[in-house]
Amino acid sequence: MAAASALTLLLAIPAAAGTPTPGAPSIGDPYYPTYGNGGYRVSHYDLRLKYQPKTDELRGTATILASATQDLSRFDLDFSLDVSSVLVNGRPAAFTETPAAHKLQITPSAPLAKGSDATVVVRYSGVPSKVVVSGINGWLRTPDGAVAADEPEAAWWWFPSNDHPLDKATYDVSVEVPKGTQAVSNGVLTDQRDTVDGTRYSWRQDRPQATYLATLAVGRFDITTGRTGDGIPVFNAYSKDLGDNAAAARASVERSAEIIDWESGYFGKYPFNALGGYVPNVKTHYALETQTRPFYSPAQFARGSNASVVVHELAHQWFGDDVSLERWRDIWLNEGFATYAQWLWSDYQGEGTTQQLADYVYAQHPANDPFWKVKPGDPGAAHQFDDAVYDRGAAAIQALRTTVGDKAFFQLLKAWTKEHAYGNGDFADFQGLAEKISGKPLARLFQTWLFTPERPAAAAAARAGL
Ligand code: ARG
Ligand code: ZN
Repeated sequence: MAAASALTLLLAIPAAAGTPTPGAPSIGDPYYPTYGNGGYRVSHYDLRLKYQPKTDELRGTATILASATQDLSRFDLDFSLDVSSVLVNGRPAAFTETPAAHKLQITPSAPLAKGSDATVVVRYSGVPSKVVVSGINGWLRTPDGAVAADEPEAAWWWFPSNDHPLDKATYDVSVEVPKGTQAVSNGVLTDQRDTVDGTRYSWRQDRPQATYLATLAVGRFDITTGRTGDGIPVFNAYSKDLGDNAAAARASVERSAEIIDWESGYFGKYPFNALGGYVPNVKTHYALETQTRPFYSPAQFARGSNASVVVHELAHQWFGDDVSLERWRDIWLNEGFATYAQWLWSDYQGEGTTQQLADYVYAQHPANDPFWKVKPGDPGAAHQFDDAVYDRGAAAIQALRTTVGDKAFFQLLKAWTKEHAYGNGDFADFQGLAEKISGKPLARLFQTWLFTPERPAAAAAARAGL
């Protein structure tokens, strides 16, 4: 008997098992050292939620499919609402929360062996608008609902996650809301049904998605649906309270299918199987490339239609969403290219060539303008979304294009999105691919345009065709 149980014990422990250790409470991004976690990777988030617009109460269950990347004694998720229970592989796990630090530390009843799968079930509730984390609140309340859409983080206020673009996963998001109210998220609407006291909307994102690109919008929306030329379902949602901006919003976002077709010509086949956009009644001024279904603020349509912002957010579907950052320092790989797409659109519309727009950026900002102090290739966390990352970033791409020639340049755009599809890429990967395709050394060009805190000399600009 004694020998048999000793044998059972031996079999239960993998031969090469080390001593289980805690996963790091960081994924190791120098810009945001507290974001994301080590010791595991997530493959899928299943969120089953209920939201009450009147009180801003959100409650529900997150079921997270993960896999241990080390022998793991405990691990963290990024989260800031109130957790009532955690199960790991069906068994209650101990947990401690530090909402202000957006961490939920979980100690499973038994360590997880490296390579093993874990199902983590987190039950939670909270009033997201009341939760301030490091001075910010990424949950936008509207008169009839709320929106989760911000960058680099939005997830803390609505679901527990490994909050970093390095750990992409698929999603099922199902949200019950009061009758007459809709819940919009990423991907395809797989189900809509009445419940005892409301309506439940179920959404599926079946392609890998970074946490900050997961979105939830609850409110009273006018919905439009259709299909792209390739048969991809289109779903757009417009707040019923857009007032004077309603028509301009539609005249812009309804062009998503046309814009995606046009962008596919430059960037390759559209990587996702759903498309759309939503315009909630928020007071913010930014847009966000939430996957398959960008978020737009009404303010963007206050001066009339704005197809250009749609071009920008939809270009991100390739640059940012399909090919995601490995670290936030490389934000130029997102914003530079999304802005360059707007320049290509301008050229296409006969409203100024990409070269004219690059010249304009150069002329608009004299050498002593602090604009040139921001390095688009390494702007610092506080300057990630500064104009320089967008406009100087796009000028850098024009300089690249004139240096390598149109043939290599357009080949590079498609090769980049193809090589890193549904994954990640970093600046070194990009430079390597650009040099391989063009056969030209490009270190100096990038140094000048992306990594020098001053205006490129007129000579360098001229060499680059500026
Ligand atoms: N990626 C977004 C865009 O340029 C930027 C979002 C900036 N975030 C913010 N809270 N302002 O489309
Ligand atoms: Zn952008």
